[in-house]
Amino acid sequence: MNDQTAPAGVMPAFRVAPGHPASLLPAALPVRALLAGTGGYLPRRIVTNDELAARLDTSDAWIVERTGIHQRHIAAPDETAVFMGAEAARAALANGGGTAGDVDALIVATSTPDEAFPATAVRIQYLLGIRRGFGFDLSAACSGFIYALGVADALIRTGMARGVLVIGTEVYSRILDWQDRSTCVLFGDGAGAAFLVAGGGSGASTDRGLLSTHLHSDGALGDILSVDGAVGRRDRPGVLLMNGREVFRHAVARMADAVDEALMANGLSHTDVDWLVPHQANLRIIDAMGRRLGLPSERVVVTVDRHANTSAASIPLALAEALADGRIRPGQLVLMEALGGGLTWGSALLRV
Ligand code: ACO
Repeated sequence: MNDQTAPAGVMPAFRVAPGHPASLLPAALPVRALLAGTGGYLPRRIVTNDELAARLDTSDAWIVERTGIHQRHIAAPDETAVFMGAEAARAALANGGGTAGDVDALIVATSTPDEAFPATAVRIQYLLGIRRGFGFDLSAACSGFIYALGVADALIRTGMARGVLVIGTEVYSRILDWQDRSTCVLFGDGAGAAFLVAGGGSGASTDRGLLSTHLHSDGALGDILSVDGAVGRRDRPGVLLMNGREVFRHAVARMADAVDEALMANGLSHTDVDWLVPHQANLRIIDAMGRRLGLPSERVVVTVDRHANTSAASIPLALAEALADGRIRPGQLVLMEALGGGLTWGSALLRV
């Protein structure tokens, strides 16, 4: 028996050797993550507010007035996180002119995976015929896509990957209490994806691509938005719980801070932003963010009215829609922001 064994549940501490010589680090990292293509998938079945009102004590008028939501897509049993994510990723890869051989990494943001493992990303990797590279899932609730963009950006900038599929795929319909009118009316299912590729570098400078991502979390606020169980707790399969007023209060303040942080870090101002592509939780939160940036509503991409809140899928779905219909054009500056359970929040600035 080794007397250095740490007590159960406590990992022995370790520390990275101090004084890592700065001269070994590259002086400049000119490579950027460029957006090559996007894609999305929405379940076949649409559920309107009136359908919910037929079996719950709610109304279309209440839901529209408080949230801006008119309908949501709800997944059939075969429309799993893996299936929807694969559909979205396949479209993103094709739109970006890529093939399976161009994908070095897949990052899936999801709170509703089909299995504890293999990771959703690895299942999607197989379905897309990708036989190289690596994939993993990331859990940051509704901020998942922004987090995944941040990780993809780091992989590309450091040269660990040159082609990365970033996917948000969610089936919140499976973790909702369908008797709880204060939560079940707010969410929907779907998947969105972006294919990022390394650009610039080798002296070829570019002002396009991901300019920055800023990520934050605060576990002290974990209980205002949570799913109170998962596979690690057999006594609780987990259902979504939310203090809506508290979430609302933190959402506007924290996302506004993350937006200011992104603009300041890039020496930009509100007037430089062409498009706001926000997390789609609630039209009132989106409107508040648009007003704060001084952006007219025509410059804010909104899908919450038709998709409801699809958590980590909401931003890539909105981005894919606005790129596909030509609203967002090459060269334009897109600001993305999100807040979700954790709390987690963050922002990303992208020149398309
Ligand atoms: N239909 C009718 N009445 C309802 C419903 C409903 N679907 N849901 C709640 N109510 C009732 C409540 O019971 C309450 O009734 P009472 O006054 O008799 O007690 C009344 O409406 C007001 O309830 P509030 O919760 O105070 O309503 P509020 O104006 O705050 O709106 C809402 C609720 C829409 C949830 C709002 O707080 C909100 O948008 N919060 C942010 C939530 C959110 O966006 N969450 C997700 C973001 S994070 C993420 O994406 C994971």
